[in-house]
Amino acid sequence: MDKFVIRGGNPLLGTVRISGAKNAALPAMAAALLTEEPVILENIPQVRDIETERKLLSAMGAEVELGYGRAQHRTTICCRDLVNPEASYELVKTMRASTLVLGPLVARMKSARVSLPGGCAIGARPIDLHIKGLEKLGAKITQEHGYIQASAERLKGARIVFEKITVTGTEDLLMAATLAEGETVLENCAREPEVVDLAVLLNKMGAQVEGAGTQTIRVHGVEKLHGARHRIIPDLIEAGTFIIAGALTGGDLTVTSCDPIHLDALLTKLEDCGVTVHRNGESVRIVGNGPLKCADIITEEYPGFPTDMQAQYMALATQANGTSIITENIFENRFMHALELVRMGANVRIEGSRAVVRGRTALSGAAVQASDLRASASLVIAALVADGETIIDRVYHIDRGYEHIEEKLKGVGAQIRRIGELLPRRMTAPAVAS
Ligand code: EPZ
Repeated sequence: MDKFVIRGGNPLLGTVRISGAKNAALPAMAAALLTEEPVILENIPQVRDIETERKLLSAMGAEVELGYGRAQHRTTICCRDLVNPEASYELVKTMRASTLVLGPLVARMKSARVSLPGGCAIGARPIDLHIKGLEKLGAKITQEHGYIQASAERLKGARIVFEKITVTGTEDLLMAATLAEGETVLENCAREPEVVDLAVLLNKMGAQVEGAGTQTIRVHGVEKLHGARHRIIPDLIEAGTFIIAGALTGGDLTVTSCDPIHLDALLTKLEDCGVTVHRNGESVRIVGNGPLKCADIITEEYPGFPTDMQAQYMALATQANGTSIITENIFENRFMHALELVRMGANVRIEGSRAVVRGRTALSGAAVQASDLRASASLVIAALVADGETIIDRVYHIDRGYEHIEEKLKGVGAQIRRIGELLPRRMTAPAVAS
C-alpha cells in the first residue's frame, strides 16, 4: 500500500491547475447509458473512481475508450450493445457512486440489478430516496441477496419531493426522468454545480431539463436520447483543497482552471480568517499573510459550506488563533481525521456533530492513517505545516479523487514523495477501527 512522506515547512508558491470534477464526471459517465450513440466527455480526471466507473460500464458491455497523449483526459463511451444491466457488489463496495447507474438502466434497458452499497466510513448513507423516487416513476423494485432489482416497461413522469436533499439521488432520478413518459417535477433538489453540469450534458443529448441549479427541476421525457460531446466542469473540492493548503502554509498560490463562484462559501470564510483572496475570471490567488483568525463553519448543501471541505478546513483551524466550532450537518460520522490531527498535536474535541478546535497548537510530523478521501486531504494539508516528517498511510483513498496530487504539490514547492515499500515497524501507523 502506498504512503506519502511529507516534510513540512515550505510555503506553497506558484500556480496549480485544477482537474475536471470527479463528482461531475461520474454521473456524466452513467448518463452515457441513456443512449446507443457515443458520448464524448472531456476534462475527465485521471483518478481511481473514474477507473472503477469504466470497469462498471465495461462489465455491462459498454465500449469505454480512454484517450491518451494530449487527449488523455477524454473518454468516449458507447453503450449500444449492453448485455448485462448490473452493478456488482465487487464494484459498488469500492465506490458508492456506482448506484448512479440505477436510474439510467431502468429508464433505457427496462431493468437493472444494482448491489446495495452497505457501510461507509463517513455515515450510513442509505439510498432509500433513489428507490422511493424510482417507485414514484413506476418502477417495480424488489430487494434480495443484497441487490436491488428494478424494472419498468416505461417509466412515467411524476412529482417527486425529496425528503432530504441528496446529490446523487437528484442526479439518478434526473437521468431516469429524461426517458420517462410525460413530465417529471423534482422538488427539494440538490443545487450543486455537478447537478447543473449533468443537466447541461443531458440537454445536449436531446433531453428537456429545466431548472437545474434551483430547488425544482422539470423534465419533459423524450423517446430517445442521442450522443453528445461535453466538457466536465472543474473540481471545486480539489481547488478548495489547494486553496486551503496555500493559505495555511502562508504561501502565494494561484489556482487556475477553476470557477471562483463555485468556491464562494470557502473563499468568504477564508477572508474571515484573514487570508487575502483575489478572484479573477477562472482563477483564484490566495496570499497567506500573517496569523490566521478563527472562524466557525457549518456544513450545508450547496451553496453552503461543503461537507467535502470540512476535513481540510479543520486542518486550517488548528493553526488559527482562538476556538473554531465546526458543525457537520450532512454526514453523521465525518470526523475520523480529527483523531489523526490530534496525534499530530492538534487540540480537537468532538461533541456529537460538532468539533471544537482550539488553536493555535504546533503540529509535529507523525505516522497517521487516511480513513476516506477528504480526510486524507486534511492530513496532507496538516503535514505541510507540521514540524518534521509525516507519513500518511492508506493513500489509496486520496487516489480515488485527486489527480497526481503529489506532483501538483511538488510543483508549488511542497516536499512530498510517495513510497510503495514497507516501512520499518516503528514508523507504521497504528490500526484505527472504522
Ligand atoms: C455526494 O454523495 C458526493 N458524491 C459526496 O462526495 C458528497 O460528500 C455528498 O454528495 C454531499 O455533498 C458524489 O457526488 C459522487 P447525498 P451522495 O445523497 O450523493 C442522506 C467525496 O468525498 N441520504 O447528497 O451520496 C445521506 O445519508 C464525496 O467526493 C439519505 O438519507 O450524498 C446524507 O446524510 C463523499 N437517503 C445526506 O442525505 C438517500 O437516499 C446527503 O447525502 C440519499 C442520501
